[in-house]
Parts: sequence; structure tokens; C-alpha cells
Amino acid sequence: MTERLNPNDIAKAAALLRAGHLVAFGTETVYGLGADACNADAVAAIYTAKGRPSFNPLICHFADARTAFKYVTPTQLAKTLAAKFWPGPLTLVLPRTPNCPVSLLAGAGLPTLAVRVPAQATALQLLKHFGGPIAAPSANRSGRISPTTAQHVLAALNGRIAAILDSGPCAVGLESTVLDLSGPTPVLLRPGGISLEALEAEIGPIQHATTALHAPASPGMLLSHYAPTLPLRLNATSLAADEALLAFGPPLPGANLLFQLSATKNLAEASARLFEALHLLDAQSPAQGLARIAAMPIPLTGLGLAINDRLTRAAAPRDKM
Ligand code: TXA
Ligand code: MG
Repeated sequence: MTERLNPNDIAKAAALLRAGHLVAFGTETVYGLGADACNADAVAAIYTAKGRPSFNPLICHFADARTAFKYVTPTQLAKTLAAKFWPGPLTLVLPRTPNCPVSLLAGAGLPTLAVRVPAQATALQLLKHFGGPIAAPSANRSGRISPTTAQHVLAALNGRIAAILDSGPCAVGLESTVLDLSGPTPVLLRPGGISLEALEAEIGPIQHATTALHAPASPGMLLSHYAPTLPLRLNATSLAADEALLAFGPPLPGANLLFQLSATKNLAEASARLFEALHLLDAQSPAQGLARIAAMPIPLTGLGLAINDRLTRAAAPRDKM
């Protein structure tokens, strides 16, 4: 059985991690499935619990930038972005330091490491208490919808992990933005909780990863990902009788089951509710005789880029997993 811990149990959660166990914990983005990043067996257990392809590298979480930059070598841009956006939903891919003790498996054997400092009080306390890097992918089964509540985590991983540290729902609700700073120019590997516009305002133009160039390096770019069980249709402007509605703004007529992402078309609100919406529509549709989910169009600006990224992958043909 997976033990439920609360924010008073930080010491216990840290002790479990130190002993090589898996502990899920809340961050501002989504719940992470944490392990001691320097313990190869513990990291291997993450891949097993998630059913994750072993080539997909994990993000290492730190209590602060000073600690993170002992494990990777920061560029000037990295220092600028860390000062501006950490703690926060930004992950930086940087070269490992020569004697970096993080298990090679955590980085899937790459010469780089993805690092971030989460903006969530309980997560930061856990990281401080633990003292070293915690490797943590999203705490869901590989390819499925990311978890934004402790409930979501338990539904997918109960019994497969030692404990979950319940810190309530995640405020941002979308994974961190992943930016590769290890090459000559910055490359956006995954849109996320910090918008491209906000990053470009600090450091100038950012190249978009092309699947052909970066897919092997960042398999989080796999086409089918974040997928509900039911098929998902994008940019719906009308609704079929067997469809549940993922609404953004005034809902399309005729929905028997709908989840409103944001009545006022607020993209931050929609981000925070996106995965909750997919979990709920997926769970409740069959009982209502509904077989598919239709999503209304969402603009591609600001956090809309990340929302559309997740929806596109959730809608992709499942044989592309
Ligand atoms: O918000 C988040 O980032 C959450 C929370 C728990 O922090 N974590 C998360 O982890 O989303 P995960 O494992 O689901 O996604 C990590 C992404 C993947 O797309 C992976 O391919 C990419 O980061 N990544 C990790 N290390 C990398 C590296 N060295 N080079 C390129 N991409 C990397
Ligand atoms: Mg994930």
C-alpha cells in the first residue's frame, strides 16, 4: 500500500527517499514521482513504476539555483533565466559537471541534465530536507494524463510507490517549460508553465525543437502522450451526439457532459484545470453513453502554446506512443 503523507511529514518523506524508495510529491506544475537522483536503483524503480521507456531522461529537482549549478555547468543565459524564473515552472537542460554524481540512468545516458527549482513550499521543504537532487517525472503511467491532485496519483500508482506527499492541487497545472541551453542557441524542447514570450523577453529569440532533430534527445516529444482513454478531437466548432465537451469560453450547444476550462477564456485558469478536465471527462463519459471528447479551440499565445501542445499529443493516434 502507498502511504499518504501530509506537509507535516517532510522528514519521513525525505527518509524514505534516502532509503531508495519512491515518493510522489506535489509541485506547482504537476505531481512528480520522486527518487534519489544519485541512486541508480531508485531511479530504475521510477521507470518500472511508470512503465516508461528507459531512454526518456528525467528532470532533477533542487532546493535552489546554487545547489543545481553544482551538478550542471550554467551558461550566462542559464544564470539570467534562473535568477528571473526560479523557483518556477522552467527546466533548463545543461551539461553535467565532470564529476556529477547523478545516476547516468536519470539522464538516460545523455551528457546533459534537465534541472529545475519548483515553486511549491512543500516541495522546496522536501528538497531542503533531502539535501540532494530528486529525480521526478510526472507521477502518472507513461503516456497517460499527468496528475494534478494526490487522487490522480493514487488512481494510477497506488501500491507501486512507497508514499505520496499530498500538498493539494497544483496551481499551474501544466508541466514546466523545457529549454535546452546546452547548444549554441537556446531551443524550446517543451512549451510549459512559463510562456515562450516571457522567456524571449529576457534572452531574445528561441528556436523551436523540430521533432526530427530533437526527438531522440527529448522523448517527451513523443507524439502520443498525456492521453485519455477516450479519443480526443481538437478545434471542435460543433458537437456530435456521442461527444463530451471540453469547453473554453461560451460552450458549444448540445453537450450532455462538459468541463469548462475557463468561462472568461483565461489561459492560466485553463492550464490549471486542463489535466483535471481530461481525467474527469475520461472517467465520466462512459456512464453517460459518450465515447469521445471534443475540445474547443484555444489560442496559441502565452500559455495557450503549452495547452495546445498537450491537447495535440492527447489527440494523436495511439500507435505513435
Ligand atoms: O513540471 C515538470 O517538469 C514535472 C514536475 C514533476 O517537475 N516533471 C515532468 O517530468 O514533467 P517528465 O519526466 O514527465 O518530463 C521531462 C521532460 C521530458 O520531455 C524529457 O524528455 C525532457 O524533459 N528531458 C529531461 N532530461 C532531458 C535532457 N537531458 N535533454 C533533453 N530533454 C530532457
Ligand atoms: Mg510526463
